[in-house]
Amino acid sequence: MSSVSILGGYNTQFGSFVQRNKETGEITDTKSLYELMTEAIQGAVQDAQIDPKEIDAIWVGSFAPGLFTNQDHLGPFALEAYPEAFRFKPTQRVEGACASSSMAILNGIYGIESGRYKTILVVGVEKMNLLKTAGVTHALAGASFWPTEGAQGMTFPGLFAEYAKGYQKHYGLSDEQLQKMLTTVAALNYRNGIENPLAHFGKGGPADRNGLFTSEAIINMPDEKNPMVAEPLRLHDCSLVTDGAAALVLTTTELAKKKKSAVVEFAGIGHTTERLATKDRKNMHELVAGKQAVNQAFTEAGIGAKDLQAAEVHDCFTINQLLCTEALSLSQDGKAGQDYVDGRFVADDHCPVNLSGGLKSKGHPVGATGASMHVLLYKQMIGQPIGLARKAGSPEVTATLNVGGSGVTNSVTVLKRVQ
Ligand code: COA
Repeated sequence: MSSVSILGGYNTQFGSFVQRNKETGEITDTKSLYELMTEAIQGAVQDAQIDPKEIDAIWVGSFAPGLFTNQDHLGPFALEAYPEAFRFKPTQRVEGACASSSMAILNGIYGIESGRYKTILVVGVEKMNLLKTAGVTHALAGASFWPTEGAQGMTFPGLFAEYAKGYQKHYGLSDEQLQKMLTTVAALNYRNGIENPLAHFGKGGPADRNGLFTSEAIINMPDEKNPMVAEPLRLHDCSLVTDGAAALVLTTTELAKKKKSAVVEFAGIGHTTERLATKDRKNMHELVAGKQAVNQAFTEAGIGAKDLQAAEVHDCFTINQLLCTEALSLSQDGKAGQDYVDGRFVADDHCPVNLSGGLKSKGHPVGATGASMHVLLYKQMIGQPIGLARKAGSPEVTATLNVGGSGVTNSVTVLKRVQ
């Protein structure tokens, strides 16, 4: 079985690429789904320094392009990045909620491991801002179990609020303790995000303008500036509604070593699925399936949490950054919040978390998020960080934990620099 490495990657600018007419409510697209996708694909192929003809197959990760933009059947559009070179190549779209492009990456890896393909392309994309908030909330709720959740008015902030309440109750935290932990995570991601030139909330953005770089700054905001969204989660606990795309070229490690001086390999992967409806689960204080995915990936890579030198985790809501940090065993169960409060996981920690700014600050174009995590870590690992770098040099071993739905679709990858 061939081992698989990253040959190139590209992340578009993340943001809200629309103009809103305040009087009429009309929304005009300023950077389309098609432009984002094409830019990411061409950027990744150029970064890989290959002829696009060398791509054998293409996977597109996107959660709900039909609802967000009316465009389903998105796989074939990938051909348009290089119509002559790509025409007739196999393409398919993969959906796994907010882990859609990690699912696309896993499928690409299987394609290479099987020996059928040598070099493949994965692109993740989501164009969310053509809809107003109510439309976005409705589209995202499709990733819940519709009959008992979405159809009953349950939203994603609401689902993760259940995790926040479960965590608070299980570990006996006061409201103040929980708030301190969650705002510390938000502030860390805002600090990291302003160093990331591709971030949605980058330099000069809302977090920067309002100086939201400490837990106190967020706690002391007036209610109207940080309203409750789903108790106990407030606006600044929620990830952003973002437009963006990211793409990767993957190939065999053998070929990558011939083509590039710095090579990053998928040393281990984990993929598990939790039951879709939260009512069918008991442990609303931990990512039970996420932990199993971590175990799979760590076992395959032959590593433990102590070996990780950076991680990108799924902070769709600040509470989930705590759950992911514990799932990766970077913190003991119930201790992640205090670890963040104590200043761990910052850029000069042994293992910084979300150097990119995470979903809270880099942004969360849901179908692009998994691919983006990989591009940002890849660039860190080959010594070309986009924005903030780990203080102690380029990391050699890193991990992603990308979560689709309410802890349902879990993808973990361990990346290792092998050359
Ligand atoms: N975090 C911080 N600030 C945010 C924000 C967020 N998530 N979302 C919007 N804002 C800011 C905007 O920049 C704007 O600031 P300004 O007044 O200074 O310009 C202000 O809040 C109002 O923006 P608006 O777009 O009207 O906010 P909203 O109330 O419509 O949306 C949420 C807020 C929380 C509902 C929306 O961001 C959301 O749904 N986030 C979660 C997305 C999600 O569930 N993803 C899937 C996860 S599994």
